[in-house]
Amino acid sequence: MQLLQFLAAVFASLVVVWATDNGLQKIVTWDNGSLIVNGERVIIMSGEFHYQRLPVPELWLDVFQKFKANGMNTISIYFFWSYHSASKGKYDFTTPGKDIQRLFDAAKEAGLYVIARPGPYCNAETNGGGFALWTSDGSGGKYRTSDATYQQVWSEWIAKIGAIIAKNQITNGGPVILAQVENELQETRYDANDTLVLYMEQLKTAFKESGVVVPLTHNEKGFRSKSWSTDYNNVGGAIDVYGLDSYPGGMSCTNLDSGFNMPKTYYQWFHEVSPTQPEYLPEFEGGWFQPWNGYFYDQCMAEQSPEFADVFYKGLVAQRASLINLYMAFGGTNWGHSAAPVVYTSYDYAAPLRETREMRDKLKQYKLLTLFTRVSKGLHNTDMESNGTQNAVDSSAVWTWVLKDRNSDGRFYLAEHNSTNSKAVSDFALTARTSAGDVIIPSLQLAGRQSRWIVTDYAIGNETLLYSSAEVLTYGIFDHPVIVFYVREGQTGEFAFSTQSNITFEAFDTASDIRGISAGNFTSTKYTKFIYTQTKGSTAVRFSNGILAYLLDIPTAWTFFAPSTTPDPNVRPEQQVFVIGPYLVRSASIDGDTVSIIGDNANSISIEVYAGAAKTISWNGFELATETTPYGALIARIAGTEERKISLPALAEFKAADSLPEIAPAYDDSRWVIANKTSTLSPVKPLTLPVLFSSDYKFYTGAKIYRGYFSGSGVVGLNLTVQGGLAAGWSAWLNGKAIGYHPGNASLTLTTTAISFGNATLKEKGNVITVVTDYNGHDQTSTGPAGAENPRGILGAQLLGSANNSSSLLFDHWKIQGNAGGEKNIDSVRGPMNEGGLYGERLGWHLPGFDTSDWEMANPGTEGITGTGIRWFTTTFDLDVDEDLDVPLGIEVGAAGGTVARVLLYVNGYQYGKYLPHIGPQTRFPIPPGIVNMKGKNTLSVVIWSQTEAGAKLSTLRLFEYGKYQSGFRFSKIDGKSLQPGWEDRSGYA
Ligand SMILES: *[C@@H]1O[C@H](CO)[C@@H](O)[C@H](O)[C@H]1NC(C)=O
Ligand SMILES: *[C@@H]1O[C@H](CO)[C@@H](O)[C@H](O)[C@H]1NC(C)=O
Repeated sequence: MQLLQFLAAVFASLVVVWATDNGLQKIVTWDNGSLIVNGERVIIMSGEFHYQRLPVPELWLDVFQKFKANGMNTISIYFFWSYHSASKGKYDFTTPGKDIQRLFDAAKEAGLYVIARPGPYCNAETNGGGFALWTSDGSGGKYRTSDATYQQVWSEWIAKIGAIIAKNQITNGGPVILAQVENELQETRYDANDTLVLYMEQLKTAFKESGVVVPLTHNEKGFRSKSWSTDYNNVGGAIDVYGLDSYPGGMSCTNLDSGFNMPKTYYQWFHEVSPTQPEYLPEFEGGWFQPWNGYFYDQCMAEQSPEFADVFYKGLVAQRASLINLYMAFGGTNWGHSAAPVVYTSYDYAAPLRETREMRDKLKQYKLLTLFTRVSKGLHNTDMESNGTQNAVDSSAVWTWVLKDRNSDGRFYLAEHNSTNSKAVSDFALTARTSAGDVIIPSLQLAGRQSRWIVTDYAIGNETLLYSSAEVLTYGIFDHPVIVFYVREGQTGEFAFSTQSNITFEAFDTASDIRGISAGNFTSTKYTKFIYTQTKGSTAVRFSNGILAYLLDIPTAWTFFAPSTTPDPNVRPEQQVFVIGPYLVRSASIDGDTVSIIGDNANSISIEVYAGAAKTISWNGFELATETTPYGALIARIAGTEERKISLPALAEFKAADSLPEIAPAYDDSRWVIANKTSTLSPVKPLTLPVLFSSDYKFYTGAKIYRGYFSGSGVVGLNLTVQGGLAAGWSAWLNGKAIGYHPGNASLTLTTTAISFGNATLKEKGNVITVVTDYNGHDQTSTGPAGAENPRGILGAQLLGSANNSSSLLFDHWKIQGNAGGEKNIDSVRGPMNEGGLYGERLGWHLPGFDTSDWEMANPGTEGITGTGIRWFTTTFDLDVDEDLDVPLGIEVGAAGGTVARVLLYVNGYQYGKYLPHIGPQTRFPIPPGIVNMKGKNTLSVVIWSQTEAGAKLSTLRLFEYGKYQSGFRFSKIDGKSLQPGWEDRSGYA
């Protein structure tokens, strides 16, 4: 071979992708630029979703379509072992909320890839971090090590879930492209014999043995350690694609000025730890969780700000990240007892998609980036060319990142404030390097927390943008190319095409000041540059080179959608339809002259559609009176919901019953479990015997009731230690009389109280103490000493005598009662974490169809409960919401200041709210359709546990709507019946 030929061959080979694969398949490969799926590069823009936190399978598609509509191409999913396995050896993948085949099918239908994260440990602020709760008695061995007992239990789960994931891999035509092993497990010692290294090896083997062939991943817990990368001190345990979790916002709910500091170290971190791999953020701040006694998400405006998405998400792509998953993109609800003690019922997370399934502005802003990365092929494989302040710009306040396409002259400049939390307005000029020489772009501006892309040599079909300081939202190839720009109202955008000078244009908006200026004299190339100040709304401009441009301000850009015409998550520019105006576009298809759009809308508005040759718009199945604009777009009006009246019934006509008969000395507890164990597998030792840890008697979730019997009259009190997780409380009665309680404390997992019996008269035999212990979940592994194996219930109960004789004062025996059937999972549809052991729960009073006809009339608002105790209130209400409407509903509760109570809300058998008036913060509880029947009858139970003699009642209790959308989604297809099994006789669990 001659030298020139040789060089040509070498050059040609550089363009070929030299991807790495894991030796098991070649459909998903990677290199240092990006993931490569079916031979094509793709920037993964993903959102985290937990189906467990939205137990209505029909709604999974609703959420996925909203992700897809907002430009995401992937969802990342945790699978909680706890939800599927109520007891050792038992697994449920068939009841509706656990039928994960439907989950994968919905992802595929929405055109999304899936990153599967089955644990076995997930953390996720879920009960026990996702460990099956039957391991919480200590039988799970040494969690998250290579311990043989632990390996035996998790192997059961990984074999089962792994096989389902395997079946749904992209290699089998499914959506799964990556699978994560474990979760934020820090590699602390680089030693092949370290238990964590051995554990990771065990997991990798188990995943592969279950049939998983897609690349395995893991997520580093922030910038703390350097774990499991094949490129970094690999002594074993390394996975295929390294990832880094990061929650850098540091924002406060009350102080909008705090936090907002975007790290500049991502590129360098990956460059050190995983240089041969793409930069993967398996979890990047989509929001943040809130604890008991914290703030409610709706108050946390900083976390919800669209500026956060603008600065942080763009800033990540500008540091070369090419796989980004927002944790959470939709948080959902910790219904039942699925929360870990660190969070309350809502898991809204201030996520881009609200718990109510409504889109926040942060999601709309994310879309401006996701649609850009979708079509910007030059961004899919770049080098970091330069970065810094005064780097290509004339301002020291402005930092730029400059990424250069490895395969073209294309460059991507991201300008941000050097101090990302700055609210200053900075004007600057940027010198862009283009194929036609350096171009100075004056009159750029950053107004506070803002980031701006400037592109050069950016291909749009056969045309090329020489440069643009107007941000590219996307472009499409129809009969001719259509490019969509966005700029903040009042700021300046400037761009030029590279192939032709003397381009003329026509702007279809008299308010626009767009003007063309001949430029480029400094090289042989001449071009026309176009400059404009963004006006309110949208301007269409047609250029003589055949390109149509939309100039959008930000609020209009938020209403822009680019539904794809392909089911492939990796969408090409020519596989899109453009729609401006509505609240949501779920899908679009073109059939002859008609473009059919399925979407949702709140306010009556005009929509504009660009779809090539189509002449008529159909919206949710209705043909619209459509006009064609002079530039070939279609315009029509769609109806809103302003005139659609929803009447929500008052919550009234309650029936009530006592839900605490167990305090009566004569209560028949003969069928209860005798608590007589003298040893436990738990790594935590009991303070007194017998062992009263609830897990040792196979009661895991919800309140537990204990009855302890003792003899003798010399007893004056009781020293009681109870552990129910943060903010959990308890109450105690002696021979039917209240003797003490703990209200719970948001920063205490465990509470100890010495209770005095006062002047209670004791019997020689058969005194009985009844203790009700509340439960806020099992701990995650970060809570010492034993994480999910930290016991729940009574840790110690020592009778106290008047003299120094306490240690000889023993209980005769103890009984324990928890959720009906314990780990038998008698309500498998709602699953193992829905219920607790309160009397009414055990008897199924929360279930639809339970007969309250012989109960008394009493209202939780006007009457409530007098003194201490637990009282159960049930009513029914009917809804009649039209089937084409999506009306997210909530229940609002409130209580007078000083109320010390624990309140549960049950809707059609689902515990969908826990309200602690004395701790807070949550008072509004969204209930999704399918849990609440939007057409038909509903059963609501309100359970009030009053902890003080002052009693408790609710000052607020009402249904309300969050919003009202006309929707093409088939909400009427939700099968509420299959989700809401009715009451059956449970008297055996009294
Ligand atoms: C690991 O343990 C094995 C068996 O105990 C031993 O033979 C080997 O030398 C150890 N390796 C290292 C690197 O410590
Ligand atoms: C800036 O770019 C240079 C050149 O690629 C690189 O060496 C350096 O690490 C980058 N700095 C940061 C903060 O990423």
